[in-house]
This record gives sequence, structure tokens and C-alpha cells, in this order.
Amino acid sequence: MEQNAEFGFREALRLQKVRFSPIRNMIDKTTALKKKGRDVISFVAGEPDFATPAPIKDATITALNQNYTHYGSNHGYPLLCEKISRFFYEDTGITYDPAIEILITCGGAEAINHTILATVNPGDEVIIYTPSFVNYENMVTLCGGKVVSIPLKAENQFQINLAETEKNITRRTKMIIVNNPCNPTGTVYTRETLQGLAGLVKKYGLLLFADEIYNKLAYDFPFTSIAAFPEIRKQSIILGGFSKTYAMTGWRLGYLLTDASLFPSLLKVHQYATTCCPTFLQVGLANAIDLPDTVSEVKSMVKTYEKRRNCMLSMLSQINTLHCVKPNGAFYLFIDVSATGLGGQTFADKLLKEQLVAVVPGEGFGKDFYHFIRLSYAVSTQSIVAGMDRIRTFVEHLSC
Ligand SMILES: Cc1ncc(COP(=O)(O)O)c(C=O)c1O
Repeated sequence: MEQNAEFGFREALRLQKVRFSPIRNMIDKTTALKKKGRDVISFVAGEPDFATPAPIKDATITALNQNYTHYGSNHGYPLLCEKISRFFYEDTGITYDPAIEILITCGGAEAINHTILATVNPGDEVIIYTPSFVNYENMVTLCGGKVVSIPLKAENQFQINLAETEKNITRRTKMIIVNNPCNPTGTVYTRETLQGLAGLVKKYGLLLFADEIYNKLAYDFPFTSIAAFPEIRKQSIILGGFSKTYAMTGWRLGYLLTDASLFPSLLKVHQYATTCCPTFLQVGLANAIDLPDTVSEVKSMVKTYEKRRNCMLSMLSQINTLHCVKPNGAFYLFIDVSATGLGGQTFADKLLKEQLVAVVPGEGFGKDFYHFIRLSYAVSTQSIVAGMDRIRTFVEHLSC
């Protein structure tokens, strides 16, 4: 062996096609401008601007002072699992056994990581509807799987086309991923669509991974969980979380629900990834999640998002070159900018430079969406009004 050979680090092959998040990229650009004292209005992060409900914070401080500072169960704090199970039953009428069918994860992101690591083999095909949250594609790629993307169409209100889905199923298809309500389109899938999807999953013996992190944020008609279709219970993994609904993005807590037969595989990944999520955070959350003040704070946040959505949509409707399918859930507007003559990336770059408004280019959510941008309305109404005014000025100057 050669002595003193120069060290040249090469990252693992499995990472070579994995990309950094375009959302993080825009957040970094915005933060850099803010640090220079520029008055940037950011519609980038999918992050509530509200504080975590006070009862949860108080209960967590108590848990810390009571020394819940040691390892906990790999599954998650039992009382938290029990309360998730109860809430889920109240919402859907379906029971997941808190002891062997619920896993607490470090945020929804870790839940995605675990699910894909536990299920996807090299060469497996995974159907992902685009535009989509960036983690699915990158995790499937990391596992050597093949992403089969099915672009959803604005003219179909970004709803899933079942016939097109069926055409994309092959002998190698392992899993379908569905994010309902959807980031970035805000689409809430209809019960009929989900029923049809469940039928395909059953017919072809597939897995269905349903990311339902925005389940409480459906404004116009009721949200349907994939759990409503018991015929695919043994083929479903459901992701839930606290980051969005409870304004707890920094706490890094989420969960997975699945049939007892699939659970050990998820647990195996979790054991070696994190051992367990921080104990006092889980104890605090478990003790306060169902207190009346927490419940009413959450209700009020949801109402506020709905009002903000309406405000943003109404201001958008005054800009005739920007078009958006009305989102029914989550907290995003996915806007077609093609009538301005710009692509999403150029639109976003120029808008940030000229008007100090930050948005995410649609291409980050799927290559077919290069003429879209995403705006998050998880910001104050004041920022929405000021930011949308700046966008209108920007677009008017484009056409001069
Ligand atoms: C669809 C979707 N799933 C999962 C996550 C990850 O959530 P968490 O912040 O809990 O990791 C996000 C965050 O933006 C998301 O939009």
C-alpha cells in the first residue's frame, strides 16, 4: 500500500444522486439577506409562525424538572402512544394498538426515512405523485429504489388519476406514496380517489405510505385518512406529526401508525437510528396534548390559517398573470407563473432581488413544475398583505 497517500474523501455511492433540499437553499438565501438587515418577507418555510401551545410548553418544563431525562422505550412514551391512538380513533373510528402499532419518531422527516429504509430494496419502484415534498424522492434514491413520478395536473385540480396510476404499476412496483393534504399543492384527496387507490394497492399487493402530517388542516371538506380502508390495513403505513398542527417544528416529534405485522421492521430502523425520541418532550406533550387550552389553541390556529389562505387567494386573484388551483388544506399556494413569461426559478430569483420577497421555485417539487412557485401562508396576515403587494408590483413591472 502506498505510504502517505493524500486523503481524498468520496461520499458513499448511495448519496451520489441525493440532492440538497431546494427549500433549505431558499431559507439560507433569505437568512443571509435578513442578516444584512434587508427587510425580506419570506413565504418559504412550511413552518407555523405561532408559538407552541402554552400548556405543552409548561408540561414539558415540568417533565424536565421531574427528571424525565433518561432513555425511554424504543416505541415511544406509552402515554403519548395511547393518546395518539385515542385521538386517531375519535377522528377515524379505527384503532391502532398503542403498544405494538404506533412508533414515535423524531419528526415526520424521520418517519419518512424509517418507512423507506425499512421497505425499499435496490431496484424497487416507488410511485410518487408530483409535485411532492422533497424527502420521498431523495430517500427512495438513497435506498437504490427507482422513483416513478406521476405528475398531477392543475386542470384536474391536482387530484390523482387512478387509470394513469394503474398504467404505471409494474412487477417491480413496491409502494405508492400519497401525501394528503398535499405539500405543495394544498390538495385534499377525495374519499372516492383514496378508495380507488386502496383498490389498486389491494389488487397488486403493494404498500401504501400515506403522509398525513397536515391531517388537521383541511378547510373545505372533511379529510379522509387512508386508515378508513381496512382492506389494506396490512399494506399501509401512516405518518402523523405535531410539527404543523401544534406549531412544534423544533421539537422534532412525529409518529407512524401501522399494522402489527409491519411494525417490527420500522422499529428495527428506529432502534439503530435514534434509540428513542427525547423523553421529557414526549412526556410533556403526552400530559398536555388533550388539555382544553391546547385543543382550543389548535382550533384557533386552524381557523387563522383558513383566513390567511382566503386573504392570500383574494390578493392573488387581483394579479391576472398568476394562477392557482384553490388549495383545500395544508398551508401552501402552488402558483403557475408561466403567463408572466418567466420560469419559477427566474421568477423567484428576480422577486427576491427586486422586491425582497422569498418563495420556493416549483421545480424543487418535481421537474415538470418549472413554471410554478410555492408560497407558504403560515405567516402573519400583515406579511401576507405586504408580500402580496410587493408581488403585484413586481409582476406589473415585468409587463412594462
Ligand atoms: C408533507 C410533509 N411531510 C413531512 C414533513 C416533515 O415534518 P417534520 O417537520 O415533522 O419532520 C413535512 C415538513 O415540511 C411535510 O411537508
